[in-house]
Amino acid sequence: MRISIRRKIALSFSVFILISGLIWVLTYYTYYLIGYRLEVIGLKNDVLNTILEARRYEKNYFLYGDKKNIEQALSYIRQAEIKLTKIAREYGKYALIKGFDEDLDDLLEYENSLAVFLDTYKGDGSLDLGGDEDKNLLWYQGEIRTLGRRITHNIEDIVAKEWQYVQRLAEKSRDYLVFALAAVSILSILTALYLAFNVNRPLRCIEDAIHKVAKGDYTNVPTISTGDEFESLVASLNNMINELNKRSEQLIQTEKLASLGTLTSGVAHELNNPLNNISTSCQILLEELEDDNLEYKRELLMETERQIERARDIVKGLLEFSKVRPFSLKTVNLRGLVDETIRLIKGEIPANISLKVEVPEGIRAEMDPRRIQQAMLNLILNGMQAMEDGGELTIKAWVEEDKGELYFQVQDTGKGIPEENLTKIFDPFFTTSDIGKGSGLGLSITHGIIEQHRGRIEVASELGKGTTFTVILPIGEVNSATV
Ligand SMILES: Nc1ncnc2c1ncn2[C@@H]1O[C@H](COP(=O)(O)OP(=O)(O)OP(=O)(O)O)[C@@H](O)[C@H]1O
Ligand SMILES: [Mg+2]
Repeated sequence: MRISIRRKIALSFSVFILISGLIWVLTYYTYYLIGYRLEVIGLKNDVLNTILEARRYEKNYFLYGDKKNIEQALSYIRQAEIKLTKIAREYGKYALIKGFDEDLDDLLEYENSLAVFLDTYKGDGSLDLGGDEDKNLLWYQGEIRTLGRRITHNIEDIVAKEWQYVQRLAEKSRDYLVFALAAVSILSILTALYLAFNVNRPLRCIEDAIHKVAKGDYTNVPTISTGDEFESLVASLNNMINELNKRSEQLIQTEKLASLGTLTSGVAHELNNPLNNISTSCQILLEELEDDNLEYKRELLMETERQIERARDIVKGLLEFSKVRPFSLKTVNLRGLVDETIRLIKGEIPANISLKVEVPEGIRAEMDPRRIQQAMLNLILNGMQAMEDGGELTIKAWVEEDKGELYFQVQDTGKGIPEENLTKIFDPFFTTSDIGKGSGLGLSITHGIIEQHRGRIEVASELGKGTTFTVILPIGEVNSATV
């Protein structure tokens, strides 16, 4: 099922809010109940105190026989009744724990008993017992005391039960809180993990790929199947990278053709020399056709063949260089490649520039020879262009076996590169050449080619003294197929 990131995030937050909301409502409800119960307990304690007060007067009456005590007791009982009725009315059935109704009845009975007692009291200590012989003073006392005790016990019992109930509620609410804390923590971890896996990971993947592209490594982003916008984003990114790959190939070719343009006059000049030599040999041969000097004629013909070979080499090199080929690594003899490159450029080198080649025979490394040649040409042409007033161009190479690296250096004694330009020279289209002379693509393409080889390029320059470009390439698994 395809779920968009927006939906995924909305869903996780909805679940989060729902569970948090539920927990909040439960906790709030428990606290509300506790508050409510505490209020009721307070009121019932008040009733209990009032009844205890009534009982105190009742005891005093039976001790001292003062009628006022009975009246006081009755007044307190009525207050207790009013309070109890008020609790029942205001707090409804929630306030009524079993026995509450009975309390009210007992209280009424207690009141009636005391009232009857007051009515039958004669004031002289004797009682009008209405002819009932069994009900004497002691009997009345006993009845009233038992009733009073029952009422206080009952209410004490109810208050104790209410306390227990409140304690249970408090415990429950503590459990709710612990549960809520655990649930919210687990939910937070789950949400964080979910977002990390579904949002963070693909984002990092894409970020890495974009960093690589920015560095010139146009490899595809590994596809992800999250079924959301990331999946289509990666697909679009890969399309873009493929397109960039194509464009970069085209750019390399365009730049190559541009440098071919620069080379043409030099190459023409280089071709002219063997052609002249061939022409001279032919003329001599024609003039001396009748002559018997066969040995001399053979020498002339052999020279002609050598010159044709030389011209063919130049044309072959030019054709090779201009061919469009996909990137492919093979084991290359570096000295051979350098010589081939110099042959292409030889006619271009002005007389005031001396060329020094310090590339030992036998260095072999894995590379795409055409592309590395293009990079060499760019560096050599740049060096030459930096030495308008002449100088020395040195091409060096060596291997550092322990690192498994090949170093290739192009050094000039030209004008140098100002410090502020050092960070820009590899940018595409950065040039200090006059308009129409340089496109500013040479070094950017060279950098791309070296990146393709998983190598690096470094530059050191001193104004007025010269510049050194060092290309460092991994040697790779060198095999016998050499170029
Ligand atoms: N050896 C060097 N000495 C001095 N400056 C250099 C050297 N190599 C490069 N630069 C500077 O770097 C800039 C960029 O070089 P790059 O090869 O990319 O472009 P370009 O030579 O100007 O044009 P293009 O190579 O496309 O014809 C040059 O314009 C120049 O200012
Ligand atoms: Mg250049």
